[in-house]
Amino acid sequence: MNIELRQICKYYGDTHALRELDLIVSNPTNVLVLIGPSGGGKSTLMRLLGGLESPHAGNLLFDKKILAQDESTLLKHRRKNGYLFQSFNLFPHMTARENVELPLIQVHDKSAEQAHTLAAEALAQFQLTGHADKYPAQLSGGQQQRVAIARAIAIKPRLLLLDEPTSALDPEMTAEILAVIESLTQSGQQIILSTHEMGFARAVADQVVFLADGKIVEQGAPCNLFNQPESKTVQNFLNKVMRY
Ligand SMILES: Nc1ncnc2c1ncn2[C@@H]1O[C@H](COP(=O)(O)OP(=O)(O)O)[C@@H](O)[C@H]1O
Ligand SMILES: [Mg+2]
Repeated sequence: MNIELRQICKYYGDTHALRELDLIVSNPTNVLVLIGPSGGGKSTLMRLLGGLESPHAGNLLFDKKILAQDESTLLKHRRKNGYLFQSFNLFPHMTARENVELPLIQVHDKSAEQAHTLAAEALAQFQLTGHADKYPAQLSGGQQQRVAIARAIAIKPRLLLLDEPTSALDPEMTAEILAVIESLTQSGQQIILSTHEMGFARAVADQVVFLADGKIVEQGAPCNLFNQPESKTVQNFLNKVMRY
């Protein structure tokens, strides 16, 4: 991926969520992982990268081109990418298959037949064919999150944004979802992931970014950032979260 952020500021009322944030991520990075304390700005940054919100100041560049912040440019940008957030956000009154098909038809202008084929492919990729006609309430949390991932990748997104995709799951389901994400990274899918799963971050990331207090504290290859963090903030955080 080739992404550059220049002096990004984002406020929510009095909260300064991102503070003149600069970031450069260039090829051969395929998997970028965001870590850091809660409230540090990870989700805000993901929403800006996905074009779901606009910054109050600064520019985002994709492949060296500034992403204009008018509604029609943002809409096009959103359609190129796939999203998955912490809570599953499946429609409870629709089957797994219908959940995957809906955005293909309503957002991506596919015919019912095309949507059916794409959805079947995506569901099969995550071993969900046998669950396609079940409603979310009939699926485990891990299966629901697999359906949400199938929905996000059915459009073959350029960039897949995963915001704490396992934080609502128990350990076994977390392992199940991490395996799915790992298989996506191996297939070459470009991913930006925020997570508190440090072992996983280290295993799959090409680049890790540590965000705290709306700023990037440290960025680097996982072996450097996890083994020899430079800043006290990162050292303290890792000591705390990797202690047990
Ligand atoms: N929609 C929102 N409305 C008000 N405050 C928000 C909103 N989203 C995020 N914030 C605030 O912005 C800061 C960054 O939050 P967030 O990006 O969610 O961090 P993280 O994902 O790292 O936990 C926090 O102080 C949070 O309370
Ligand atoms: Mg968050």
